[in-house]
Amino acid sequence: MPAQYRITGTGAESIATSVEQAISQGSLAPGDLLPPIRDVAGRLGVNPNTVAAAYRILRERGAVETAGRRGTRVRNRPATTPRSALGLDVPEGARDLSTGNPDPALLPIGASRLWIRPGPPVVYGQPPMSDELVNHARAALTADGVPPHHLAVTSGALDGIERALTAHLRPGDRVAVEDPGWANLLDLLAALRLNAEPVRVDDDGPLVADLARALGRGVRALVVTTRAQNPTGAALSADRAAALGKLLAGRSDDVLLVEDDHCAGIAGVPLHALAGSTGHWAFVRSASKAYGPDLRLAILAGDQRTVERVQGRLRLGPGWVSHLLQDLAVTLWSDEAATRLVRKAERRYADTRVRLRAALADRGVIAYGRSGLNVWIPVPDETVAITRLLNTGWAAAPGSRFRIATPAGMRITIADLNVGEIDPLADSIAEAMHVAGRRCV
Ligand SMILES: Cc1ncc(COP(=O)(O)O)c(C=O)c1O
Repeated sequence: MPAQYRITGTGAESIATSVEQAISQGSLAPGDLLPPIRDVAGRLGVNPNTVAAAYRILRERGAVETAGRRGTRVRNRPATTPRSALGLDVPEGARDLSTGNPDPALLPIGASRLWIRPGPPVVYGQPPMSDELVNHARAALTADGVPPHHLAVTSGALDGIERALTAHLRPGDRVAVEDPGWANLLDLLAALRLNAEPVRVDDDGPLVADLARALGRGVRALVVTTRAQNPTGAALSADRAAALGKLLAGRSDDVLLVEDDHCAGIAGVPLHALAGSTGHWAFVRSASKAYGPDLRLAILAGDQRTVERVQGRLRLGPGWVSHLLQDLAVTLWSDEAATRLVRKAERRYADTRVRLRAALADRGVIAYGRSGLNVWIPVPDETVAITRLLNTGWAAAPGSRFRIATPAGMRITIADLNVGEIDPLADSIAEAMHVAGRRCV
């Protein structure tokens, strides 16, 4: 056992708490192996079953994961740690392209001088969604072919996804997810004690054969990113959406479909939604990427049962999403200057993606990024590539955050990349992929 932390306690709960504390203090780092159960039991003078129960508690809280004989390790991003502590260690002076953030200069929420004029105070017992937001959401969703009859508002996409999943699933259920896929979603599944079933993606979205296999393995839900898939930039094409919809229609009674449309407005590609192809579904459209993550607001459309369960459970928690935020969202969505800025952001992101991918192709480097804020680059060894890139002043996100069973890669967030930075960055990436003078892909 490393000297810098000590597991203490005599019961499962106190042993688990001491491990959790070591993780939050940083003396147990992501990826660190916990000591074997028997060693801890011997040292603490307790029954091995007690330590096994403590490790199970930690697993259920999303703090650790167990990979068969390879033992129990601290999760990459333990669910018992505050979000702010989870960033990469980017050295001072390095250009940070690891964040996944939109460009703050292109967010209407920062640039506009909009002030909402709140209506009469909202008190308990009023409808959770303002009429203006309902009207706006209905018009926008209808235009995109998403059935808009039942709606809820949640505190962002991840909150909506969690609420849709917990409306139908129980711990131990399997959920089909994209691989590579959004790290926060993978962490959420672990924290909800749901099992991720990987489905590979190409530029056009989840592979049909992989989804068919996942369905055959009994998944109870599927989470699909409509466009701007994180980290690969994939987006559902019309053909892929039709093929996936057909596959799902045959399973419409027992599989929940959740769609994450987090980049509406700035994705750079049209929407081809699956919404409505299953009996239970939720389509979650977040305002985070186009308007600003701090808006913490997403529209959730779905079938009546799903939406009513989400509303009902919301009522027993936060109650509703503040009407002040709802008014602000409607104001932003209706404001001409804000709309112009969002369109400009969409063009800028598309242009930067295309330029970076072209510059990489010129240097013989394969890169993906059909839509959104990121470019995904397969690499032979993430640690080597990320370290070499960092040595030339650029920080990228390691693919290990996003992968379950797919090969290594790294994610470059292009949102605030300047045109002048593209060639030097492409040179550094190409360099980082060469080992001892030869390409190692
Ligand atoms: C795939 C995906 N979905 C959703 C979000 C945003 O979620 P939220 O609306 O919770 O901020 C992100 C942010 O990075 C994302 O990558």
